[in-house]
Amino acid sequence: MDGFSERFAQRKDEFEWLFMELYEDREALGRFETIMASFSVSRPAALKDLDKEREGKAWYLERRMLGVTMYTDLFAGNLKGLAAKVPYLKEMGVTYLHLMPLLKMPKEGSDGGYAVEDFSMVEPKFGTNGDLERLSGKLREAGISLCLDLVMNHTASTHAWAMRAKAGEKEYQDRYLVYPDRTIPDAFERTVPEVFPSTAPGNFIWDGTMRKWVFSSFYPTQWDLNYRNPVVFMEMLSSMFRLANLGVEVFRIDAVPYIWKELGTNCRNLPQVHTIVRLVRLALESVCPSVILKGEVVMAPKELAAYFGTPEKPECHLLYNVSTMVGLWNALASQDATLLKAQTEDILSLPPSAAWLNYLRCHDDIGWGLDEAKERSLGIDPLEHKKFLYHFFSGDYPGSYACGEQYNYDPVSQDARSCGTAASLCGIEQALEEKDEGKLKKALARMEMLYAVVYALKGFPMLSSGDEIAQLNDYSYKDDLLRKEDSRNVHRSPYDWDNAKKRKKKGAVQQIIWDALQNLRKVRSESPVFDGDASVTTWDAHNRHAFAIRRTKGKNEMLFVSNFSDGSETVRFDYYMGLYKDRLTGRIVEPGKGFPIKNHEYLFLEKMK
Ligand code: GLC
Repeated sequence: MDGFSERFAQRKDEFEWLFMELYEDREALGRFETIMASFSVSRPAALKDLDKEREGKAWYLERRMLGVTMYTDLFAGNLKGLAAKVPYLKEMGVTYLHLMPLLKMPKEGSDGGYAVEDFSMVEPKFGTNGDLERLSGKLREAGISLCLDLVMNHTASTHAWAMRAKAGEKEYQDRYLVYPDRTIPDAFERTVPEVFPSTAPGNFIWDGTMRKWVFSSFYPTQWDLNYRNPVVFMEMLSSMFRLANLGVEVFRIDAVPYIWKELGTNCRNLPQVHTIVRLVRLALESVCPSVILKGEVVMAPKELAAYFGTPEKPECHLLYNVSTMVGLWNALASQDATLLKAQTEDILSLPPSAAWLNYLRCHDDIGWGLDEAKERSLGIDPLEHKKFLYHFFSGDYPGSYACGEQYNYDPVSQDARSCGTAASLCGIEQALEEKDEGKLKKALARMEMLYAVVYALKGFPMLSSGDEIAQLNDYSYKDDLLRKEDSRNVHRSPYDWDNAKKRKKKGAVQQIIWDALQNLRKVRSESPVFDGDASVTTWDAHNRHAFAIRRTKGKNEMLFVSNFSDGSETVRFDYYMGLYKDRLTGRIVEPGKGFPIKNHEYLFLEKMK
């Protein structure tokens, strides 16, 4: 038996059971098994070697892991340009590169590539499939895993299927959710929330050519797929295998909670979504076991962790730690780490082979999805607090240091999200504009500390490209007709290579942030307490402004502490008797007795021998 047959044989019962539960179609099942077998045959030898090396190993839990996410064109023009920048990525210490969507996309309304016109072809302005394959090879040699999106929920309205649907072909209309009149759309609208209430209201759009209503959760150029149709499932998985065979090692399954629709529900996180994710996992383990799944699940904590599945039946290998990301910005603005601590505790127990991807910023907005029950229990009014947050990070709250923009304000619910780069949100932009050294120092300390927490959390850190050189907001999108409606563009700007050079200029903002991140990387890589199987818990610092994490592995132990207050605080740790030394500064403290910690200071403490 070859590798595939053996691997699939071990998973066949469960795979067939789940497939039949969804589709009740034996013929389709047979066809899909043939598809999987053929992709395993055409898998290049180098990737089969990688499969062998990684099979059964949670390679993404190694402490060397450091991610970065970026747009190919903004960073390096195109894929060839990006290949030439691999040495720079190595200098940064990156081991995981997530490139924003780069498959063929419409000229207008591509939603940053999340409207895909052809899943089998690289967007010509970025290069060719050959360029992608060469890049993935080069990255692999450099120890960097390539992550790409699989935009599962929808295709572009100009995708060949949508064009044929518009032309009246029923077979293709059946791949989407199309309705002749408003009866069903109106019934859905009663229970389905809107994703973009101000930039793309409603969940349906009218297609004049087809004379039908189409389910479109996101922008009108993105038509939701019908996963009740097994052909959709099979075709999307084929696209995934094709990309895996070009060297993609991680798939970010975009907007996955939305893929199954059911009348009378909110059409989010339905049980069938989990069945599909589990099927995808089993299929990947059979065809290309070195390849892993990262779920893009921007949901409340209890829905979020469900996408890891269970230890027996795992789903995603990686998930964005969206809950802590929001918790961090909230703690920064409110100078209070109580909620951050409580929310972090909720997500610490996960299946052993699962990992959080910790981050501060990505290409999207910050949605203020805090745990409302917890907020209430702390005496916080969730809506009023949310308003404070989005005003604070737009810089229009008295005393705010942040430069940012609001995103998708909904006048009915008064919900809004926030956009901006980490540096601008932390106050670096304002301080530079005002040429205020004191403010700049504080702003830099904020950004450093937030990243220190990101590096200390359970899981592995991911940077948003540009953060390592403290890139600021770019407001020029407002002059661009195609981009001005989407304020996420304020943090999507060309990489500033002149500023990147300043990473070596002593005292420059870029050098301070770059070196701080390098030091954090060093701390992670030098100690086994950052291994994937280390134990990680929060710890009480006896101070609501402080956030502390305890990491242990075997005899090794480290206590991380950070201060979210604008002033100096005192922290104290029970059970930590004796002298401890900060790994970065060498400062010696006695945690059991208490010690002062400056505004936005952080320490990685180890017991002195
Ligand atoms: C995800 C992407 C976002 C995009 C949406 C629709 O949330 O991160 O940028 O707009 O999916 O595909």
